[in-house]
Amino acid sequence: MLDIENQLTLDERSSVDFVLALRKRWSDTVYPALSEEYLATGPVADDVDGAVERLQRLSLYPWYSHLERVQQKMLWKTVGAAVVGRAGTLREQLDDLPGRPEGELRLSPDTELPDWYTDYDIHVQPGSFYSDDLSAYVYELGARIVMLRDNDGYKFHRLFTETALPDVPEASRVVDIGCGFGKSTRPLAARYPTAEIIGIDLAAPGLRLAHAEAEDAGAAISFRQGDGRDTGLEDGSCDVVTGTMVLHEMPAEAVRETVVEAARLLKPGGTMVFLEFHPTGDTFRDATIFEHAERNNEPFFRDLFGADLLKVCAEAGLTGAGWTPFDERREGMRPEGWGDRREWHFPWAVLTATKPQN
Ligand SMILES: C[S@@+](CC[C@H](N)C(=O)[O-])C[C@H]1O[C@@H](n2cnc3c(N)ncnc32)[C@H](O)[C@@H]1O
Repeated sequence: MLDIENQLTLDERSSVDFVLALRKRWSDTVYPALSEEYLATGPVADDVDGAVERLQRLSLYPWYSHLERVQQKMLWKTVGAAVVGRAGTLREQLDDLPGRPEGELRLSPDTELPDWYTDYDIHVQPGSFYSDDLSAYVYELGARIVMLRDNDGYKFHRLFTETALPDVPEASRVVDIGCGFGKSTRPLAARYPTAEIIGIDLAAPGLRLAHAEAEDAGAAISFRQGDGRDTGLEDGSCDVVTGTMVLHEMPAEAVRETVVEAARLLKPGGTMVFLEFHPTGDTFRDATIFEHAERNNEPFFRDLFGADLLKVCAEAGLTGAGWTPFDERREGMRPEGWGDRREWHFPWAVLTATKPQN
């Protein structure tokens, strides 16, 4: 399949590299400078709201926040232009599938997209990622830059799959909720070779790209359009229900419904594992995450950070629920904590819970 990155013109390449370099400098130079100014100008705030208030009074803050928002908008503009310039070829390859596919694509155009999903352009991506087939390509290329190239070759998602998901030698079914364009789903096929792998997402464009790329890679995956809160799959049919970077995109009630659905789907002894964000307890850092979410059109971060998901799991009948910090630049799961990193980065954490044996 055509990977646009391999065909960028010199001008396009330099624009992509510029946005990437800007993002890196913002993360590894501007953020630490902001942090130093914060520590040098007063006591550490006791809570996140206090930290937000202090943060907004720092002299570097207007520059820091402006750069954060502007580089995100530049990213979509740059990536969007590269994708739209190749629209014909990119659309065609979504239909150019093998006669005897390994996996399948089940689109359900009647799937209702909730208001909380369509009311705003998430990540500031114009049109979000459900509006047009090209939006999946835009998201795919944009995500490489957002992750500062740390996820090239699905590195991050493979690390998650290898270090956070349980060994289930004879697994028969594994489900990925909010699979997007399949970045989280593809590594599951290698991790659970005996299992039927199902990726579910609300957005048809991502699923079409996921299916085309999985077929190109010879991976047998079933991609289905649907809502993670009501998958239509049978009770007790899954060994593992997982999802990456999806819960923070939903309001609290939808997160609860998703956990209840995961519990319903699991076999006795099965495991639910979600990669998400979690408050670090460092009020400055958590304040910058809240601010990031607001600037990035991710309005439900506060819901996620305020929710007691361990209680939600218990109420859904799951046991042993817990959060484990996760570091994509180190060994993945870090029960000992995130550890020090100077640069701005996401506070990834893994929520795990188990369905009790009967
Ligand atoms: C940030 S993307 C993550 C995609 C993928 N898991 C990854 O790690 O690259 C979040 C995805 O969740 C999907 N999503 C959000 N709410 C959903 C829901 N209730 N049911 C199914 N998919 C959902 C979105 O359409 C989007 O593709």
